[in-house]
Amino acid sequence: MIKLEDVHKSFAQHEVLKGVDAEINKGEVVCLIGPSGSGKSTLLRCINGLEAYQRGRISVDGETVDVGAPTIHDIRTRVSMVFQRFNLFPHRTALENVMEGPRYVLKEDAQAARQRATQLLTRVGLADKLQSYPSSLSGGQQQRVAIARALAMQPEAILFDEPTSALDPEMVGEVLQVMRALAEEHMTMLVVTHEILFAREVADRVLFLDGGRIVEEGPAGELLRHPKHERTQDFLRRVTHPV
Ligand SMILES: Nc1ncnc2c1ncn2[C@@H]1O[C@H](COP(=O)(O)OP(=O)(O)O)[C@@H](O)[C@H]1O
Ligand SMILES: [Mg+2]
Repeated sequence: MIKLEDVHKSFAQHEVLKGVDAEINKGEVVCLIGPSGSGKSTLLRCINGLEAYQRGRISVDGETVDVGAPTIHDIRTRVSMVFQRFNLFPHRTALENVMEGPRYVLKEDAQAARQRATQLLTRVGLADKLQSYPSSLSGGQQQRVAIARALAMQPEAILFDEPTSALDPEMVGEVLQVMRALAEEHMTMLVVTHEILFAREVADRVLFLDGGRIVEEGPAGELLRHPKHERTQDFLRRVTHPV
């Protein structure tokens, strides 16, 4: 569904992605892991056209992701993103945050958008927070609103960029639980995360990005338990035993 072929991306003289090849199939959950600064966020941002890349090709269902092309709006609608820092509209309620995209991008009428937003917020466990503003919600609740908002666009895939990294430890579980439920419903997901246990239990495949390239990839259980490449082994040792 999402295909990357020899993708290169530089910021000025600094080449961050040095020829990335990867594929995410429909209904698959793929975790992208790698050291800080290895280009994980940049890769996600290139996939849904928040950043341009210079060489190679990214495509979604065969359609090339090209920041300059008119099709980019369509691709951003089909591929939603959930960020580390939620990025909710502070002056809108949870319900309004979730309704915004369907109303103004998908042009749904207010009643239909409100009904779906209510359903989605209920699904992420926030039926009693519809009228709450982000500032009155915990980090875990805000991130669940952000996931409901991503789902409201009826995307074909969702990209998650370290969705639990900004959360207090006691709130990580509730967000991972929502993501796990999505995975069970076969939502196509690409998840940047350091939650190795989550990756092992939920992901179909894991990609390890380092030095601007996918150094190793494979079935989650296999790669995380028996990494072949030395750099993958080092990385996994560091994230699972951070001392
Ligand atoms: N907008 C930007 N301008 C210049 N350099 C950037 C920009 N965004 C990211 N970078 C650089 O690209 C590299 C990869 O960043 P990033 O994709 O955020 O890594 P990761 O998400 O794996 O931690 C880093 O060296 C970072 O400083
Ligand atoms: Mg990042």
